Formats: sequence, structure tokens, C-alpha cells
Amino acid sequence: MGADPKRSAGKLRKVLRVAAIIGGVVGVGIQFIPVKNIGSNPSARYKIDAPPEVEAVLRRACFDCHSNETAWPFYARLAPGSWLMVRDVNKGRGRMNMSEWGDTDEDERTTDKENSWDQIEEGKMPPWFYLPLHPGARLSDGDKALLKSWMLAGKGKAAKVPPASLPVSP
Ligand code: HEC
Repeated sequence: MGADPKRSAGKLRKVLRVAAIIGGVVGVGIQFIPVKNIGSNPSARYKIDAPPEVEAVLRRACFDCHSNETAWPFYARLAPGSWLMVRDVNKGRGRMNMSEWGDTDEDERTTDKENSWDQIEEGKMPPWFYLPLHPGARLSDGDKALLKSWMLAGKGKAAKVPPASLPVSP
């Protein structure tokens, strides 16, 4: 006895309907799982010590994840995307928070800037998945040149080796 095509189509529809209902219930249900830190920013702010054109690029390309001035879009509140977003912001701020540069010393800032240029040069920052929803964060060649000159301006100043221990040329 072969399967009756009409009957198996009906069965499939039933399975799909149940799956859609379960999906809907789960999709709504996860919205009630509390997400810590979503939509709120710590209050610490530091005026970025950079020319306005440099600051403007940092603001549009880096601030969402590396400052306390994250702009939380409406979809930031929708799970499960919100979970990923909070994770990136927490991780990003943990690595480097430009809003807290005021509390760090110059060596640390210099190192942060040099690391930043490394990340940009390697194409790792801003992260690729951030760009489709934030096309303004894409860095043009001009943006990169601007950031490079600013980020590497202090290069060498943060050298951990005290000058006295460097070999002295005769
Ligand atoms: C969408 C969020 C996001 C944006 C936008 C973003 N970053 Fe990041 N950044 C992260 C995350 C997350 C990490 C931690 C990466 C990891 O742990 O693998 C990170 C790490 C870093 C690090 C430390 C890397 C290391 O290995 O220690 C630097 C430096 C950095 N980012 C610079 C920048 C700069 C400069 C920009 C802007 C041009 C930028 N980031 C934009 C999320 C972001």
C-alpha cells in the first residue's frame, strides 16, 4: 500500500502548523528572559582627546561597543539578537572603553590606540557583522588614514623598556 499523497500533504501541514505555534510561543517567551545591561549605559564619560574629525569617525565606527555611549536600537530589545548585542558590548567595553580613558594613564591609552590601529588594519574592527546594520561605521581609505595618523602618533612613547637599559651606541 503506497502513501496517499493527499493524506501525507495534510500531515505535513499539521506538522508545520504545530512547529509554527511552538516557534511563536518560544519566540515570544524568550522576550521575557531578563537581559542585564540592555538599553542602559554606565554614566562615566571622558572627552576624547582627539581632533573633531577623528572623534567623529570613532563615534560612528567604535563607540557602540567601546564606550559608555552605546546607541541601543529598538531591535536591541528583541531576543535572541539582544543577547548577542549585550555580549559584544560587554566584551568590547571590557577590552577597551574610550569613555574611561580619563581614568587610565597615557601609556595605556597609547597602547589602546596602537592595538586599535592593528585591529583596523587587519580588518577585524569594526566587526563585519556590525556593518550591514550600521553602514555608517564602514571605514573609507580616508578614514583609515586619519585614524592611523592619530592612533600611531604616540608610538614608542609607551615603550616598557626604560631608555637607560637600551644599548648605548658609542
Ligand atoms: C559591534 C561591536 C564592536 C564595534 C563596533 C567595534 N568593536 Fe572592537 N571589539 C569588540 C569585541 C566584542 C571585542 C573583543 C573581541 C574578542 O574578545 O575576540 C573587541 C576588541 C577590540 C580590541 C582589542 C583587541 C584585542 O585582541 O585585544 C580593540 C583594540 C578594538 N576592539 C578596537 C576597535 C576599534 C578601533 C573600533 C572602531 C574602528 C572597534 N573596535 C569597533 C566589538 C566591537
